[in-house]
Formats: sequence, C-alpha cells, structure tokens
Amino acid sequence: MKKILITGGAGFIGSHVVRRFVKRYPDLNIFNLDALTYAGNLENIKDIENQPNYVFIKGDITDADFINSLFNEHKFEGVIHLAAESHVDRSITDPLAFVKTNVIGTMNLLNAFRDLWKDNYDGKRFYHVSTDEVYGTLGTEGLFTETTPYSPNSPYSASKAASDHFVRAYGETYGLPYVITNCSNNYGPNHFPEKLIPLFINNIINNKPLPVYGDGKYTRDWLYVEDHARAIDLVFHEGKNHETYNIGGFNEWQNIDLVKLLCTLMDVKLGRTEGESEKLITYVKDRPGHDLRYAIDASKINKELGWEPSVTFEQGLEKTIEWYLNNEEWLKNVTSGAYTEYYSKQYQ
Ligand code: NAD
Ligand code: TYD
Repeated sequence: MKKILITGGAGFIGSHVVRRFVKRYPDLNIFNLDALTYAGNLENIKDIENQPNYVFIKGDITDADFINSLFNEHKFEGVIHLAAESHVDRSITDPLAFVKTNVIGTMNLLNAFRDLWKDNYDGKRFYHVSTDEVYGTLGTEGLFTETTPYSPNSPYSASKAASDHFVRAYGETYGLPYVITNCSNNYGPNHFPEKLIPLFINNIINNKPLPVYGDGKYTRDWLYVEDHARAIDLVFHEGKNHETYNIGGFNEWQNIDLVKLLCTLMDVKLGRTEGESEKLITYVKDRPGHDLRYAIDASKINKELGWEPSVTFEQGLEKTIEWYLNNEEWLKNVTSGAYTEYYSKQYQ
C-alpha cells in the first residue's frame, strides 16, 4: 500500500484532512505525524484511530535525525505538510519557535523527501500547506492572486513565507515535485479557542468579555474547514507539480460584523434575549503589525480543478456553533491548565 505522511494531523485543519484521506482512500496507508503541542489533540481524530489504513506517530519535525530515519523506514511516496505553529499572537511573543517549526521543520521534511527520492521522483509529491498571510495586507480594494508578491508582516507569516520559498527553491534546485496552497482563514469544529471564532464562541458560552482588537474593522475571508480539506484532497491528486493554488471562501467579513453575527446566533442557541451576548464585546489594544484585510482570488483552483466552497457561511457557522455546544468536554479539556496561563498573559 502506498504510504502517505500527513504532518500536523492532530491539529485543527490536519485532523479534517487525515479523516478525509483515511475514509476516502482505503488503498492509501495514512501516517499522521504530530508532536502533540498545545494545539494537537488526539481527541480530534478519535473516530478513526482504529482504521486499518491509519497510523499515528508522535514526533517532532524539528528533529532531523528522527525525520530521516522515519522516511528511510517507511519510504513515504507523498507528504502533506500541515504541522506548524499557527497563531499570530503567539508568534509576536515567541518568534523563534515559529522559525524552528515552520522553517527548520519544513526543511527537515524537504531534505528527507529529497534524499529518499532524488534518483526518481516519478509518482511522488510533496504538498506544502500554507496561508494567504504570506502576501501581507490588502487595502480596501483588490484580491490576492498566486502572483501577488510576498510581503509578510507578522513573525508567523514571515516563517510561513520562508518555508514556501524553501519548498519552491527545492523544486527549482533539486527538481523536487511540490505543490503549495495558500488558504484564507478557516473555521469549524476542533478549532483551538485561541483564534477569533472559537475563542469568541467559548467566551459567549461562559459570559466572558469578547476582546475585539483595535476598532474591529479588520477584514478576513472565512472558509469552512472541510472545504479546505476537500481542496487539499483535490490538489494532492490533481494539482500540477511546481504550482501554487490560492484557496478562499469568497466570504469577506469585518471582524466586528462577524462578532455581532456570532452573538446573534448564540443568543438564539443559548435561549438568551436578543442583544445579550453583544454586551460582552470589549474593544482592546490592537495587535501590533495587524494586517488590515485578506481576500483571496480563488479563480485558478476553480477553473483548473473545479473547486469551490460547498458550505455557505451561514451553514458553516451553524454547524460550528452546534459542534462547540455539543462538545463541551472537548472545550473544557483544551481550555484547562496551560490555556488559562496563555489567556491571562494575552488578555491581561
Ligand atoms: P494548528 O495549530 O491547529 O495545528 C498544528 C498541528 O501541528 C498541531 O497538531 C501541532 O501539535 C502540530 N505541530 C506543531 N509543531 C510541531 C512539530 N514541531 N512537529 C510535529 N507536529 C507539530 O494549525 P492549523 O490551524 O490546523 O493549521 C495547519 C496548517 O494550515 C498550518 O501550516 C497553517 O499555517 C496552515 N493554515 C492555517 C489556516 C487557518 O486558518 N487555521 C489557514 C491557512 C493555512
Ligand atoms: P485570528 O483568528 O487570530 O486569525 P489571523 O490573525 O491569522 O487572521 O484573528 C482573526 C482576526 O480577528 C484578526 O483580525 C485578529 C482579530 N482578533 C481579535 O479581534 N480578537 C482576538 O482575541 C483574536 C484572537 C483575534
């Protein structure tokens, strides 16, 4: 059976990708490599842990010797690389951790993959999952396309940009068969409650302040996580080598409008009177280097591979809120211990 390595499969997006591949491709042997940092959680993929075509390996991509021996042992023919430090606010506090995992970790995977297959890359693929944040920020007009120059503004996006450049460079220099996708903001089940949507859902449930950065007029393009996993599946199987594809939701929202919508939906779900949750909105100090607007032109993946989002924002938010309300235990587990410390430092 062909062995495929998925990194970061215990995290938010990775868990949806792993589940999709394990269920859809019984002829592929899916190896999920994850260090189980604060963001990784085996609960996210509990439902597939006993599937015959699935193996979990706890391990760190920054450990080159470990990565090399893993590749030598299993001879992975495909890699889908999602493991990363992923939160902008944490990258402002500890940029080096982002260089280690996002840049050096990616390099270790590239080196191991190259060393294994350099004599014959036929049928092999290295898929690097990246973000639209590498393009920097937009003004009020325009969209990011695949040819927009990179201009990252946060340590997170700079580390992702660096890793994208290395993947591309390995393609040019060593002929490594790669694809890269740059996706907009995801939301959905299993999203760690440090990012806007799950953090605010959790705070609304617990009647805690909703910390809106700055004036709240920052814009993001939101995509339901399973639609991202669908796109990854499609690009992995049908994308062209040495190509980049942008993935987006065609769904721009100013933060403050999104937060108000979330409050309205949650009032209904929690049986609160209209406007009650909105009272929790609290404007707080802005994030340094805060990108004003992200918006993706996803016409390339649409025209070449026929991908488009399948879930509307209303449907996606409904499913997401339902999931958090039905998974209180998950939420409680991930918000205990270290989370409390992070939260009070970040929002003191
Ligand atoms: P996440 O933080 O939820 O999960 C990251 C996973 O990587 C965790 O399971 C963690 O344990 C694992 N990990 C971290 N460091 C590791 C290491 N050194 N070795 C092995 N595993 C390690 O992140 P996510 O939101 O699921 O993002 C996944 C990927 O998608 C990232 O590469 C991110 O840059 C990219 N991306 C995310 C978004 C988004 O909106 N979340 C949008 C576009 C692209
Ligand atoms: P986030 O979910 O961290 O994603 P990213 O910064 O990668 O886009 O943040 C989404 C937007 O929400 C961003 O403009 C920052 C803002 N935000 C807040 O206003 N308050 C918060 O507590 C957080 C976490 C984010």
